[in-house]
Amino acid sequence: MRIGILTAGGDCPGLNAVIRGVGRKLLREGHEPVGLRRGYRGLAEADHLALDHRSMSGILHLGGTILSTSSYDPYRHDDGPDKVRAAMERGDVDAVVAIGGEHTMDITRRLHEGLGLPVVGVPKTIDNDIVGTDRTFGFDTAVQVAVDAIDRLHSTAQSHDRVMVVEVMGRNAGWIAVESGIAGGADGILIPERDVPVEDLAATIRQRHERGKDFSIIVVSEGARLAFADGSSQKVRASDDTDEYGYERLGGIGAAIAQELERETGYETRVVVLGHVQRGGTPTAFDRVLATRYGVAAAEAVLDGAFGTMVALKGQEIVRVPLSEVEGVKGVDLRLAELARTFF
Ligand code: F6P
Repeated sequence: MRIGILTAGGDCPGLNAVIRGVGRKLLREGHEPVGLRRGYRGLAEADHLALDHRSMSGILHLGGTILSTSSYDPYRHDDGPDKVRAAMERGDVDAVVAIGGEHTMDITRRLHEGLGLPVVGVPKTIDNDIVGTDRTFGFDTAVQVAVDAIDRLHSTAQSHDRVMVVEVMGRNAGWIAVESGIAGGADGILIPERDVPVEDLAATIRQRHERGKDFSIIVVSEGARLAFADGSSQKVRASDDTDEYGYERLGGIGAAIAQELERETGYETRVVVLGHVQRGGTPTAFDRVLATRYGVAAAEAVLDGAFGTMVALKGQEIVRVPLSEVEGVKGVDLRLAELARTFF
């Protein structure tokens, strides 16, 4: 069989490890992997990249994706579905492994249900917000990047008696904020799933000062809201832009929180936005292993004919989940958020 592999949506550490896992397993079983460049665009427009031992060598530790990525959605183009159908009829590929986030899984489900595309999904995103899996690859790396930054910010915050607000990514899920906040020993964590009034945050910071700790680190998820004790709250975004999928482009809440905290406490407050640094560079060992397991499992699912599924992590096991069950956003486990509050 000739099996297409594509990476779609935002990049994420571990994409190349998945490509290598799928491709090497297929080669080993006597099949032919082929790269589809820039997501589903590569399938629709027959933009292919040969994948052999040579092109898949030395990529395990590399960030980004050797296949390039895009947010191309066949259903957003009048001729998109026809182009995908034509590619299948021409026999460009016999099956597809689609590595992507929530939106890519949605497209993948529609292509499977609507056009009968033989496809298996692999859950990717630093946000860890895909329903149906305990973990997405890339998340561990993003958390580690954030923790490294928080560790570094501690010493400078302490030296200057400053409050440091660290804005992390995660879209509308607070996973990166909660895990990096716990691991980095943050003094406050703001997430989209639960509003915390600025006044409460300011009180925590004042109490630390009274105990002789003249600095604080506050981790803010980009999707968190600016909330007040009177029950009012608002979303804050630096720009009204949307991305190619039409999703809101987030970012800016960190600066708003910093401004309010400085006003409430009188302590100098600075903001650091980690942004795309969390997505770049080499994946952690955990993500390399998870991505490799996902890749090999996706190849096995294709060879078993288990189309219309997504490989997923459940506990310690890799399982297959029907794409029809992969819907919505997996919000943060609030027990984890509660655990974090033990230390504020
Ligand atoms: O979904 C991954 C992610 O990095 C989010 O955390 C962030 O909101 C978004 O992508 C940024 O996307 P873009 O690179 O398109 O601005």
